[in-house]
Amino acid sequence: MNLFRKSYAEINLEYLKHNLSWIRSHFSKESFFCPMVKGNGYGHGDVIIGKCLESEGVTHMGVCLIEEALWLHQAGIKANILVFRGFDQQGAEEIVARDFIPVVSQWDHLEFLSQANKGKAIPIHVKFDTGMNRLGFPVSDAGKIDQYLWQNKKFRIKGLLTHLHSGEDGIEPEGKTQEQLRLLADVVPVFRKYNPVVHALNSAGILSKAMLNGDQTKTKFDSSLGTRPGLLLYGYAPKMNFKNDFQQQVKPVMALKSHLSEIRFVSKGSGVSYSHTWVAQKDSVIGVVPIGYADGVHRGLSNKGLVSVHDHLVPIIGSICMDYLMIDLTPIMNLKIEKNDSVILFGYTPTLGYRQTAVAYADILGSIPWEMLTSMSIRVPRVIVESSQ
Ligand SMILES: Cc1ncc(COP(=O)(O)O)c(C=O)c1O
Repeated sequence: MNLFRKSYAEINLEYLKHNLSWIRSHFSKESFFCPMVKGNGYGHGDVIIGKCLESEGVTHMGVCLIEEALWLHQAGIKANILVFRGFDQQGAEEIVARDFIPVVSQWDHLEFLSQANKGKAIPIHVKFDTGMNRLGFPVSDAGKIDQYLWQNKKFRIKGLLTHLHSGEDGIEPEGKTQEQLRLLADVVPVFRKYNPVVHALNSAGILSKAMLNGDQTKTKFDSSLGTRPGLLLYGYAPKMNFKNDFQQQVKPVMALKSHLSEIRFVSKGSGVSYSHTWVAQKDSVIGVVPIGYADGVHRGLSNKGLVSVHDHLVPIIGSICMDYLMIDLTPIMNLKIEKNDSVILFGYTPTLGYRQTAVAYADILGSIPWEMLTSMSIRVPRVIVESSQ
């Protein structure tokens, strides 16, 4: 695709593969592994990510919506796609017709699937609510579900799962994560005869297990416990309750880049952008960068965020507009700054390292890297790079 505007999200597949193999190195090859590619592959482009994962031998991927599963399917992805969100009768028909794998979390899901069944047993994963209080059967329903499934041959139970709400405390034997895993472990024997996989670990859960390494005696990190990495796969280690250097082990896959479309000179006392929220304290050099809040650069970064130009961090000044933002180049004008020079809003590069990742913006905004990545607008082209640069 032509880049008429040179603002884009660079998606580094070498970094993705690096993160993938780092995560997998902590688990046995046999354990269930289902990377999450929902939310447009955490903003990176679900088809780009899905195809890369598939080429690396990944056999299962998770999405929230049936629509997301359809996009992957229509792009030719053959991996098993788990659909985590609930569905109605129409959704159940689509799931069955396309051979997606439904995550079943309430009784009417079973009824809808039962109606949609065309004679072939439908593979399902059953979700239990162990404390998130969002989706899932109460653990006390385990016996009833077993009875229903045992009598009803329309289903083949392939997996049991729960979702961790406080994975950052995973190494604490009496923490909330261990309590959730204990509740999950209690339902496992009820379903043992079906030989399902059991999965629970999101990024924080994975890091907790990695932290404990061989010393998991006081915890419920069963060696076969399956994983569903999201954020970590995309190169961000969630904040944990314990000191660690995990962020250094993975590499942020997305770099948001643009360029200087104009360099302007403003005299002392001149204001910049809407409502002149920034006023030059001295004669200044301003760079205009063609990317704005319609692209996913949040307006809350106005007069707060930084960008990198020639490996130097310079401030965003004035209000971020829908399509533009302005930066103060005055402190670096000795570096021979020119029109069209590259501007990196965030990303990991060998020289920038971890100084200016999506976490920097998230921290300013009181947000989280998940939101920064997934709110990258559809109008930002995703440009694949394969090298480690
Ligand atoms: C059910 C489920 N599993 C796994 C994940 C991955 O979580 P994370 O991005 O923290 O690894 C998510 C993300 O929200 C989720 O909803």
